[in-house]
This record gives sequence, C-alpha cells and structure tokens, in this order.
Amino acid sequence: MDITDAHPAADVPYSCRAATCGTCRVEVVEGGDALSVAELDEIEVLDIFGDSPEDVRLCCQSKVVGGASTRVTLRVCDD
Ligand code: FES
Repeated sequence: MDITDAHPAADVPYSCRAATCGTCRVEVVEGGDALSVAELDEIEVLDIFGDSPEDVRLCCQSKVVGGASTRVTLRVCDD
C-alpha cells in the first residue's frame, strides 16, 4: 500500500485499507514468493471472492519482504 500510495499511476483502488472490503484485490503475476504470508483476516476476505492467496492478494495487506532487487508484478482484479 505504501508503494502504490507513492506511485499513484499504479491505480490500485482502496476503500477500508484494513482487510475487510476486498476492493484492493490484485492478481499476483510475478514474484509472489517475495510477498509477506497472508494472515487469516486477508485469507477470509479472499475466500469470500473465491480467491486463493497464492493467486490473489489484498494490496492493503501485502508487504514486499524480498530484497530491494526483488521484482513483484501485480494486476488489479477487474471483477
Ligand atoms: S482496501 Fe479493503 S481490503 Fe484492502
């Protein structure tokens, strides 16, 4: 969320910013191993949408835990 706030061109939609609404769902295109492990509240929201944390994350909850050279590519879910 901090990264997308600093780069508004990413155009990730947010609402609650607290793992309750699912507005910020993003598809993990590349580099999912470099993201923090999804916690229960995130998994519960993803489950409502039929998503798995291996494929889709809440951008407001995901942290990049890899090094500075880590590449992570996410795509805003359009449903
Ligand atoms: S903004 Fe609501 S779950 Fe991320």
